[in-house]
Amino acid sequence: MPTQPTLEPKSTTKGSDAYRDPSWWYDLRGFFILMGSYQVMIWTHLNFFAKNLGQRHLEAAIGSGTFMGLTLLTQRIKGGKLPEEVVGIDYAERMLAGAKKLFRGSKRVKLVQADLSQIEYPDAYFDSVNIAHSFHAFPNPEKVLIELHRVMKPQAKLYVDVLVHPRGNVLKKNLANWINRYALRKGILARLCEVDETKAQFEACKFDVMEGYIVGNTYHLIAQKSHS
Ligand SMILES: C[S@@+](CC[C@H](N)C(=O)[O-])C[C@H]1O[C@@H](n2cnc3c(N)ncnc32)[C@H](O)[C@@H]1O
Repeated sequence: MPTQPTLEPKSTTKGSDAYRDPSWWYDLRGFFILMGSYQVMIWTHLNFFAKNLGQRHLEAAIGSGTFMGLTLLTQRIKGGKLPEEVVGIDYAERMLAGAKKLFRGSKRVKLVQADLSQIEYPDAYFDSVNIAHSFHAFPNPEKVLIELHRVMKPQAKLYVDVLVHPRGNVLKKNLANWINRYALRKGILARLCEVDETKAQFEACKFDVMEGYIVGNTYHLIAQKSHS
């Protein structure tokens, strides 16, 4: 497989400090990043993540909550079953402040400020986990996967979208590269991923990869907690 050109500058990996902007700005910027870098329509992602909403659902890295709110709305419009409990975890205070405002008064949604590599929930608690637009922003993806595996019920599914090296024509690639360089500089992107490497990362953390496919510059992966 040809090696991908290295993007400069390297990520500044500021952790939660990279998310100090107000959540409204994150939402606006996020929409353009989705169109220009991921090159995926928002409803494609809403449809994808709405398929994985179990009774007790964990939204890993919920951010401002807007995307989760829209995922629940999508499920409602489709007439699908809504979770009884949604736990949204994120380590960035400013992002969670937006989510708290959005879900104030909600009995269904609980918001927790924490690092996903240390989740204060018992083993085998969750029926489903979604990681939307965040895996490539995790400073320590393996630690997060190990912890998610612990809190997931046997057979629970994890849906994730992972940002890969830009593909397509020159114009599309240049636009994505330009946005990715900005995101790396800001520290909101830790790395671009490779499909095989990502699959191997999940398998090493005891997940069975059930399905994987690319849309735009985004690898969509469906994994299940394995028995072993
Ligand atoms: C690009 S945002 C995506 C937020 C949301 N899922 C969405 O789709 O709008 C990435 C989020 O991941 C969070 N994050 C990254 N690493 C984390 C970790 N180890 N623990 C908790 N949150 C983390 C950041 O604070 C940020 O809110």
